[in-house]
Amino acid sequence: MTRTTPLNTIDLRVGGGLPLVLLHGFPLDLRMWAPCAAALPPSIRAIGVDLPGAGHSDLDGARPSLENSAERVHDTLRELGVGNAIIVGLSMGGYVALALADLYPGFVAGLGLVDTKSVADTDEARANRRRIASAVEETQTVDAVLGMPAALLSDTSAVERRHLFPVLESWIHSQSPAGIAWMQRAMAARPDRTAVLEKYDAPVAVVVGAQDKLAPRAEAEHMAAAARMAGGNVTLTEVPDVGHMAPVEDPETVALALADLHRRVRFR
Ligand code: MLT
Repeated sequence: MTRTTPLNTIDLRVGGGLPLVLLHGFPLDLRMWAPCAAALPPSIRAIGVDLPGAGHSDLDGARPSLENSAERVHDTLRELGVGNAIIVGLSMGGYVALALADLYPGFVAGLGLVDTKSVADTDEARANRRRIASAVEETQTVDAVLGMPAALLSDTSAVERRHLFPVLESWIHSQSPAGIAWMQRAMAARPDRTAVLEKYDAPVAVVVGAQDKLAPRAEAEHMAAAARMAGGNVTLTEVPDVGHMAPVEDPETVALALADLHRRVRFR
């Protein structure tokens, strides 16, 4: 019996055994993981999840909080018969992955932290999120975040992967203003979860785009160092030429890191 309304999920890769659960970044939805899921070994099951307020998942009347997002991911997966899973999150998805490891440590068999960070927002970042939340509510449009692809993609992608710009813009355009505002407020309220990693002793894969401007390598090193304190099996992969959207910009390299994480969890 779950207490929350199930989120929208899709098996992006049909396989057996312990699944990889793929949590998307802001302001996107599960579609961003499709190319990376397609590059995984065929035996691995990969479940994409639309987080609350994104894609085809509703807000369920909840107050903005990533703990609520984590609870709904957990309940949704339990409803699907998933007893435990490797949780992989990009940026905002990584914040939710850490909240899951905090709230349901036994459920999270391994953690993939991609272009993300474990620290909380600065006051300035919080104020900026509140400004964006108010702007999307006032205008009832997503205009305030439509320019984000320039920050999400690398300078190299701006030259060599220009086709990704309209793809990201169309994904952002299809999101709801209410969802955008909710997610901004939820992220603004999140605590520093570095201490969760310091206690988390299952395998961890930290992945960062070499040109990530939003969650740069120093954040990845901070998370890897914290996870190593727990004595678990931790890798840090830097993906060359990509920015904050490593699984979209270079799906094959991220898939290799996630397949390795899956193997490390299975043979733990
Ligand atoms: C994301 O890609 O999910 C965002 O950059 C997260 C954030 O705004 O902190």
